[in-house]
Amino acid sequence: MFNQRKVGIIGTGHVGSHCALSLMLQGVCDEIVLVDCDEVKAQSQAYDCMDTAAFLPHRVRVKKGEVKDLGEMDIIVISVGTIDNVSQDRLSELEGSINMIKSFVPDIMKAGFKGYFVVITNPVDIVTYFVQKLSGLPHQHVIGTGTGLDSARLCRTLSMKLNIDTKSIQAYMMGEHGDSQMAVFSQVTINGMGLNSFLKKIDKEIDLEEVETIVTKAGWDIYTGKKSTEFGIACVCTDIVRAIYSDEKKVMACSGYLQGHYGEENIYTGVPAIIGKYGVEKVLELDLNKEEKERFNKTTDIIKKHIKIGEKML
Ligand code: LAC
Repeated sequence: MFNQRKVGIIGTGHVGSHCALSLMLQGVCDEIVLVDCDEVKAQSQAYDCMDTAAFLPHRVRVKKGEVKDLGEMDIIVISVGTIDNVSQDRLSELEGSINMIKSFVPDIMKAGFKGYFVVITNPVDIVTYFVQKLSGLPHQHVIGTGTGLDSARLCRTLSMKLNIDTKSIQAYMMGEHGDSQMAVFSQVTINGMGLNSFLKKIDKEIDLEEVETIVTKAGWDIYTGKKSTEFGIACVCTDIVRAIYSDEKKVMACSGYLQGHYGEENIYTGVPAIIGKYGVEKVLELDLNKEEKERFNKTTDIIKKHIKIGEKML
């Protein structure tokens, strides 16, 4: 009668398990299949998730599965990666991540998968590029979380500096989900007001360089304190999954495929985009100022360089 909304999650460590919990708590899907090379962990995560199901107003089923079971999923979240190889520079995780995705993406496609990938595994922009390459799915069906989390961190940081609700702020980090990401301050709005005019209205000044540094380092700072990041990234993943299922046409930052956008070709990187039932339906080109354009091209150069390195690892 009605199609069940089925989401697969491959990699059930801190990030993958919190993606499952966030999807459950927010009622975004009906069934979640957890896959991990550590089958005992995947099964334990599934049982733990099902213990919460009893307290939810809606029904959701979570079970452990195998790669072959992912063929019938609508959406697959890729959150593989070993916590002990996390480093301050996400780019150093490239080889391990490529070795993991090439071990299962072809098998998922052989199992008949025709849906969408939401990629979290770092370095996410380059990994998303290779997941698309290995899967052969349309570019807009392979979405990286990219600077979605960084943009949330930019809003959080501005919210704390300005003492206003984070949801009243629209702000984007663009480029690499990594050290070379950049804040697009020229396009920050506070419910329609430009940042500079808002600052004048509240008679306040803030150090924008300090804000950008806080945001860029936030992932590492959190990791240093608790040996993972999990809550925020899980909600970025849930936002993308919900936008697809509900055809929200939501504007959010993600790692999207550029085909001439911002003068760049054939790379995935953090950009604002419209997300709906067709995946990344449109990459949005912000009016970057001269300095922002130069910085954006620097960060995309880093991504292009690591795509070349990754090509040799396939
Ligand atoms: C972070 C991870 C998801 O920035 O890269 O928290």
